[in-house]
Amino acid sequence: MGQFQTDVVIIGAGAAGLMCALTAGARGRRVTVLDHANRAGKKILMSGGGRCNFTNLDVKAGHYLSANPHFVKSALARYTPWDFIALVDSHGIAWHEKEAGQLFCDESSKQIQQMLLRECSQAGVRIELNCSVTEVAAGGPGFILESSHGRYLCSSLVVASGGLSIPSMGATGWGYQLARQFGHTVLPTRAGLVPLTLSGRHLEDYADLAGLALEHAGVSVGTRRFDGGLLFTHRGISGPPILQISSYWQPGAELHLDLVPDRDMVEWLAAQRQARPAAELKTVLSDCLPKRLAQRLCELGPGNLPIRQYSDKTLQELGRALGRWPMIASGTEGYRTAEVTLGGVDTHELSSSSMESKRVPGLYFIGEVVDVTGHLGGYNFQWAWASGHAAGEVA
Ligand code: FDA
Repeated sequence: MGQFQTDVVIIGAGAAGLMCALTAGARGRRVTVLDHANRAGKKILMSGGGRCNFTNLDVKAGHYLSANPHFVKSALARYTPWDFIALVDSHGIAWHEKEAGQLFCDESSKQIQQMLLRECSQAGVRIELNCSVTEVAAGGPGFILESSHGRYLCSSLVVASGGLSIPSMGATGWGYQLARQFGHTVLPTRAGLVPLTLSGRHLEDYADLAGLALEHAGVSVGTRRFDGGLLFTHRGISGPPILQISSYWQPGAELHLDLVPDRDMVEWLAAQRQARPAAELKTVLSDCLPKRLAQRLCELGPGNLPIRQYSDKTLQELGRALGRWPMIASGTEGYRTAEVTLGGVDTHELSSSSMESKRVPGLYFIGEVVDVTGHLGGYNFQWAWASGHAAGEVA
């Protein structure tokens, strides 16, 4: 096995690593990307249901969770969604806006992966797959890496090894270990953008509704709320607003569902009692909720009598409860299905303009390994592109 001298070594041929590589390579730097997986950009391939939600037209710091909410601003301002769209357009990749600014490929996620690989190849980037890094040491100026492919000497080392989500796709905690080795703080990690689970009586209450979808609901934890389609699963609840709220939910936190967000249910139930007093409550509720759910809510709440038999007070309470239906989640489905990992390398110890370590010159952290997590909707890839670009411009 040989010894290789290069300018920049990037660990991780994922979204952030490839963007960093093509940017640094285009500056004339000699760049080598090492990845233990057998394929580059595996998460890109599986993203967005196979169509890669590669960015969002409305990217703001408020779409990201981090212990330091201002950290993302500089990199996001210097590499915008339009910069990435220009790259996509230059490769003739057709795309469309699905909803709320979310951009997807018309055809396949593979086009984004191939585009990045082509750009890397044009920039002279070397990508070593099936390569495990066993040891990293500071080597005077620069770094010495021992790997299954030999020894690498480099002046800049970029950690782009991602988070812990989907271990079957090659996710490891390697980047966190390396950060600790070099004296960095790693903030506690947990699964984000992930379905929530119910247990015990709370699971029994809803488990037989598995597969039932609600087209539009609101989900809130504290003052944070997301709206969208909800899905009951065998283990709990899922759907875009649940994935979104999972990043804000902590064990023990109260979760509330607004089951009929488009109607004032207090007024509506009063009007229904006037209009059809003999109708059973579940029949009335089935006008605005799936039948099986309407029936279950009656069972869990005020029963199923003709609506005229309920007092004003009971109907008002029910109307209000439908807007704030409590759900006791017991946990999340964990890293096995999570789209992202919350927490990670503390941004207070990184430069927000270059992603360089404030502790170790020449060491950079980019992408998901950093304590920056986006909302659902293309924000995580935009962070990978922007942070990768920021480091690629200086590494
Ligand atoms: P990423 O995980 O992409 O890459 C890390 C790389 O490091 C991997 O190639 C891995 O093999 C390698 N690695 C790990 N440990 C290593 C080690 N010890 N040695 C060598 N290499 C190592 N986001 C979005 O914006 N839009 C979307 O549509 C989706 N869809 C989506 C679907 C699914 C199923 C998931 C799981 C995630 C998404 N995401 C998403 C999130 C998005 O995929 C994620 O935020 C980015 O891929 C993060 O990019 P990184 O480059 O930081 O990590």
